[in-house]
This record gives sequence, C-alpha cells and structure tokens, in this order.
Amino acid sequence: MEHPLTQYIHPGCPPFDIREYEMTGGYAAVRKALGSMTPKEVQTLVKDSGLKGRGGAGFSTGIKWGVVPMDEHAPHPKYLIANADEMEPGTFKDRLLLEGNPHQLIEGMILAAYAIQAGVSFIFLRWAYKKAAQLLRRSIHEAYVAGFLGKNILGSGFSLEMYLHTGVGRYMCGEETALLNALEGKRATPRAKPPYPQISGLYGKPTIVNNVETLCNIPHIVNNGVEWFKGLSYSEDSGTKLYGVSGKVNNPGCWELPMGVTIRELIEEYAGGMKNGYQLKGVLPGGASTDFLTAEHLDIKMDFTDVQKAGSRLGTGTMVVMDDATCPVGFVHNLQHFFAQESCGWCTPCREGLPWVEKMLLSLEQGTGTAEDMELLEMHTHMLGPGNTFCALAPGAMEPLQSALKYFKDDFEKHISLHKCPYE
Ligand SMILES: Cc1cc2nc3c(=O)[nH]c(=O)nc-3n(C[C@H](O)[C@H](O)[C@H](O)COP(=O)(O)O)c2cc1C
Ligand code: SF4
Repeated sequence: MEHPLTQYIHPGCPPFDIREYEMTGGYAAVRKALGSMTPKEVQTLVKDSGLKGRGGAGFSTGIKWGVVPMDEHAPHPKYLIANADEMEPGTFKDRLLLEGNPHQLIEGMILAAYAIQAGVSFIFLRWAYKKAAQLLRRSIHEAYVAGFLGKNILGSGFSLEMYLHTGVGRYMCGEETALLNALEGKRATPRAKPPYPQISGLYGKPTIVNNVETLCNIPHIVNNGVEWFKGLSYSEDSGTKLYGVSGKVNNPGCWELPMGVTIRELIEEYAGGMKNGYQLKGVLPGGASTDFLTAEHLDIKMDFTDVQKAGSRLGTGTMVVMDDATCPVGFVHNLQHFFAQESCGWCTPCREGLPWVEKMLLSLEQGTGTAEDMELLEMHTHMLGPGNTFCALAPGAMEPLQSALKYFKDDFEKHISLHKCPYE
C-alpha cells in the first residue's frame, strides 16, 4: 500500500529540511512542471487525475482551476491560497501534513500557482497551530534561498511570492470567501457567490483557495501521473485520503489509506475497535457538520459517492465515533454550542436560530424539554437548511441534529418522559 502524502512523516520526529526533502525526490515535480509543462498541461493533468478537494465539499480540483482566466488580458496578480484553518471539530488531518512535511505543501502550492499563473500565495493558518507556523516560516525561507520561490524560479520566467498568515481563531474563517475578507483585514463574513473567487477573489482578483491535503497531492500527481493516482484508490474517487477516528476507540488517530476503505476497517482495524464496555451508537463520518450514520452503515466505503448515498457526507474524512454510554442529546447540544458560538451573525436564520437550537437541546438534556421542543427542533433543521442561509455553516450544523432526531428519536423522547437525562 502506497502512502505518498505521509511516507516521510514520523510523528514525534522533526520534519525534513529542504536538503533532506530534495534527497527523497522533493521539488522534482516543480523542476518537471516548470521545465517541461505548460500551465494548461498541469491543469489538465490534475483534472484527469480525478482529484477532488479535500476541504469538505469534494469538488474537482482541475475543474475549479479551469475557471481561472488564463489569457494575456487576465487580471493581475492572481492569488493562490492554502486553506489551513482546520477548525472543524474532530478534524486534525491537515495538522499532520503541516507539521510533518511542510515542504510538500509548499511544493504543491508552487505547482498550483504555476497552473493558474498566480504570482502571490498565502497560507491561511489556524492561530493555534503554533508549531506548524514555526516550521512553515523556516521552510518558506529555505525555499526562497534555494530558488523555488521568488523571482524567475529555476530560470523558468515564473515568479511566486509566498506569505504565512495566521488567523485569529474563528471557524468561519475556513469558509473560503470569509477567509478572503479576513485576509483583506475585514470582518470575516462570507461573500455572495457568484462571482466565484476564481473570477473575483482576493482584492477582486482571480483566486484559488484549496485545502492543505488537496495541495499536498499535486507534486505526486505531477511526478507519477494520472493512472498511478487513480490506482491508489479502492473506489471511483481517486487517490489516497487522510482518515481520522476519534471517540472511545482503542487507538484514535489519523491514517493515510486508499480512498474507499470502509467505516468498519477504519474503526475495527486501524482504530483498534471500541474500548472495552462500549458499543458504537453512531458515527459522524466527516467531522462535526456531517449527518450521523449508524452500525448498519459500517460496510459503506468512505468516499464521496457512497457516504452521500448513505445520507451523509465524506466531509473532511475524519470521523467522530459516538458510543452507547454517551447521551446523543448532550452530544448534539455540545456541537450546537460550538456552531452557535461560531456563527458570524451575518444572516438572521443562523444568528437567531442556532442559539435557540442550543437552548432547546439544553432544556431537553436537563429534563425540562417538551414534545413541542422536538417539533421546533425539526422545524429548525429545515429553516436553517440549504438555501436559507448565506453560507454552509448553519446547514452543516443542522446535519448532526437532523440525523440524531431520525436515528436517536427514542433518546430524545425518554428525556421528555423521564424529565431527566437517561444516561445520568
Ligand atoms: C464554516 C466553514 C468552515 C470551513 N473550514 C474549512 C477549513 O478549515 N479548511 C478547508 O480546507 N476548508 C474549509 N471549508 C471549505 C472551504 O470553504 C472551501 O470549500 C475549501 O477550502 C476548498 O478547498 P478544496 O477545493 O481543496 O476542498 C469550510 C467551509 C465552511 C462553510
Ligand atoms: S449561515 Fe451563519 S455563519 Fe454563514 S453567513 Fe449566515 S450567520 Fe454567518
């Protein structure tokens, strides 16, 4: 089994410096692309590889790049941004890449910037990732000194500046248009789309925002080609994926595996199964803003298509396991507390609705809730659903709630009939 993204990552050991990175084949893809490929050829290669964005939505990376204006009259400069905000509860996959092999991300960014002919790039980093910030600063400096960043890279005529920007710690800044506002020094609220950032992004110029894991795949695709990348997967979605498992399992962690391993393999083989005395009650397959799946879904492939068919989303691919000793009402209340706190307040349904949802769940959890509260919660899952809010934060928040009401209805009802939490 190949692990292109993590083969040189050994948690606990310092990452490669630029010399070590180059000794293991690092920056060969930059030499290849800038030396012998046109930007359009890099775009086509990435499109043909079938790479889908690893930031949550799973949109084709090559198609997204293909929207950027490329003719000689295209606005200037264009921007490339690595989204390293990673604040989705339960998600810690990009951290592994940032701390484990920062040059791999920088190389992916140079290639992506070349493909769209961006002259300026940013890494938008979660403020709490202090170690990653330190390592990235050192690695960017090394890349400048080695001539992989700056003017006329490797004599190719292509130039790229790279900056590290640390956010101030809001979940909302991970949404790509709020991220653009934050980078411009404005309030981090999302922008109306269209126009999409590919046409009018940072400072009104064409901009691509890609997730860290997405970008880390690019050097390997350029080096090894389309068929190799497709062959890494067990499913129709190409490549490998960083999967995570957290909760009451024996060996919580993050692993790079072929796209399409099953939920069962992840929990039982890699995470070592449930801890003694605990049974699996539900699982959020792709982070906090995805719908619950249950034990009946264990044999589903963890890829974009199959998880969606089962009624949820692959999201970030980092799953949160809920055990049978954990109260689903309390669990979902905890999530809604986070989402209500992180609402940017820009649109009314989310700003007003999420605190109400949190309040009703707390009331149910404390045994003072009523059957009417359950109806109201149900109603909120529609009112805050897709199409009713300005961005995907609120609809994402509704996913664990709507599926908890479906799969764990009995638990909600017991809180009402017993006037207390049955898990106490
Ligand atoms: C509230 C919210 C938070 C988000 N946080 C992140 C994040 O931390 N990292 C990320 O890559 N994408 C995040 N996204 C998705 C981005 O908007 C965007 O789709 C992604 O960065 C695109 O990269 P990709 O095409 O490589 O997947 C978030 C979306 C929303 C609605
Ligand atoms: S859905 Fe929430 S986070 Fe998104 S714009 Fe509206 S208030 Fe802000």
